[in-house]
Amino acid sequence: MSRRTTRCVTHVLLALLYCSGIEASWEEWWNYDGISGPAFWGLINPEWNMCNKGRRQSPIDISPDKLLFDPDLVERHLHIDKHKVSGTLYNTGQSLVFRVDKNSKHHVNISGGPLDYKYQFEEIYIHYGIENNKGSEHQIHGYSFPGEIQIYGFNKELYNNMSEAQYKSQGIVGLSLMVQIGDTPNPELRIITSTFNKVLYKGFSTPIMHISISSLMPNTHHYMTYEGSTTHPGCWESTVWIVINKPIYITKQELYQLRRLMQGPEERPKAPLGNNLRPVQSLHHRTIRTNIDFKHTKGHNSCPTMLRKNHYRANKWSSDIG
Ligand SMILES: *[C@@H]1O[C@H](CO)[C@@H](O)[C@H](O)[C@H]1NC(C)=O
Ligand SMILES: *[C@@H]1O[C@H](CO)[C@@H](O)[C@H](O)[C@H]1NC(C)=O
Repeated sequence: MSRRTTRCVTHVLLALLYCSGIEASWEEWWNYDGISGPAFWGLINPEWNMCNKGRRQSPIDISPDKLLFDPDLVERHLHIDKHKVSGTLYNTGQSLVFRVDKNSKHHVNISGGPLDYKYQFEEIYIHYGIENNKGSEHQIHGYSFPGEIQIYGFNKELYNNMSEAQYKSQGIVGLSLMVQIGDTPNPELRIITSTFNKVLYKGFSTPIMHISISSLMPNTHHYMTYEGSTTHPGCWESTVWIVINKPIYITKQELYQLRRLMQGPEERPKAPLGNNLRPVQSLHHRTIRTNIDFKHTKGHNSCPTMLRKNHYRANKWSSDIG
């Protein structure tokens, strides 16, 4: 989506950008603060109006008392192919993004869990804070982790590629891994963190060889799932989110390297890349399902559940038959 334009728009804030003769693609124009920040994404580009108008947006704060245990999910483990893939890590000026090689022959499939289709792994977004007290986009009970790794795939049964799938029904899966500071870092994550010094500035990129997405995953089958959107523009409400119920770990040194990355190009670095997070969005009336059966967890006896205690029959003899 590298649409280019020099047309003037009337919005007073945007006029600053458009009418000053700057010609740039839409992709360049959003960031995480000020007049191109999350509150304005939906105004910058009409195709992104879901960012402002949508009611099934991401990220959200996952409050434990909103979780609904769904017994149908218990037998359905999430499946991610184990083999390794290669790709490129980019500093886009907005995020740190890993994209899998377009011509790789062995795609990584993501399926099972709450997914009704087979999805093909495509990219990873890394969100993180400048301080330890925030960084993840999704929050758990109001708590933001120092970072979040989002693994995106597209529905390969219905669509040809990510750009087609992202705005279509059931187009995308987003796996969310919370990142916590610890002394036993995830070895697969280390393959990525060891390249941070090669992507210091916007536009820099570096190849990453032989990484296994499945080995990035923390050691648990437990997750929370809900229907939402991409957390970057255009905020399309096409994403099934699966938030894994256990963090992966990064060391202080790795986080320090990450925080040295800058938003701008080498000659004009602007601000640090960190704090690249969209604020949490309202849940509205969505359900967050989980495969964690709290009944078997001490002290959580009263958590809501979808276990069927009541059985209904179709009412064949409705009153208007007379
Ligand atoms: C992934 O799914 C495709 C079909 O969509 C299949 O051809 C391929 O073998 C699968 N990959 C693996 C590693 O199972
Ligand atoms: C994605 O698929 C659509 C539909 O087949 C096609 O028109 C488009 O060129 C593809 N985009 C990319 C980036 O491959």
